[in-house]
Amino acid sequence: LIYETIITTVNANDEVHVAPFGVRKENGLVILSPFKPSITLDNCLQTKVAIMNLTDDVRTFASAVIKQHQDYLLIKAEKINGLRLADALAHQELRLTNVIDDAQRPELHFEVIHQVNHRSFLGFNRAQAAVVELAVLVTRLSMLPKEKVLSEKTYLQIAIDKTAGPKEMEAWSWLNAKIEAFYAN
Ligand SMILES: Cc1cc2nc3c(=O)[nH]c(=O)nc-3n(C[C@H](O)[C@H](O)[C@H](O)COP(=O)(O)O)c2cc1C
Repeated sequence: LIYETIITTVNANDEVHVAPFGVRKENGLVILSPFKPSITLDNCLQTKVAIMNLTDDVRTFASAVIKQHQDYLLIKAEKINGLRLADALAHQELRLTNVIDDAQRPELHFEVIHQVNHRSFLGFNRAQAAVVELAVLVTRLSMLPKEKVLSEKTYLQIAIDKTAGPKEMEAWSWLNAKIEAFYAN
């Protein structure tokens, strides 16, 4: 079971980095598997901490992936040095306990040292899931055939048309602009 989250980290100069990551849970530990090279990986190795943010604002996933519109509202974590998404539904403050290194995709194992629920889960929304799927596709544009990307986007568009609100529409439009620009070049 993999949960799609937003991981916030800082480097040794306290510069923040925001990136979407799928995480696994094993025996109470949170496991992150970043492909190298990764700023998140470097920051975690430097500081030994990270913050896992659970959010239903899918604009964060879209903007982190396209590296635009990154005007996140961030506030200080409570028990570790770091910043979390201010509007997260919940966040967990993580301490690195083990690293299984790998040439391509190491595993980072974290213990949860502090967790806070800020707001309630409102229920599943298909448009949010569609935005997260399109964000994943956008990270793979150079690896996937154009026809596959465009046909999957057409399918995902159904959930957007039927169930999106303003935030989902905005995230969807950012990702679409990125895809159009990629194929225009
Ligand atoms: C929903 C979602 C899940 C992702 N999960 C992972 C992951 O598990 N590992 C990974 O390396 N990249 C993942 N990515 C891609 C990274 O977010 C993206 O490549 C990012 O730039 C990571 O590199 P960075 O740490 O240098 O920012 C995911 C992207 C999305 C949209």
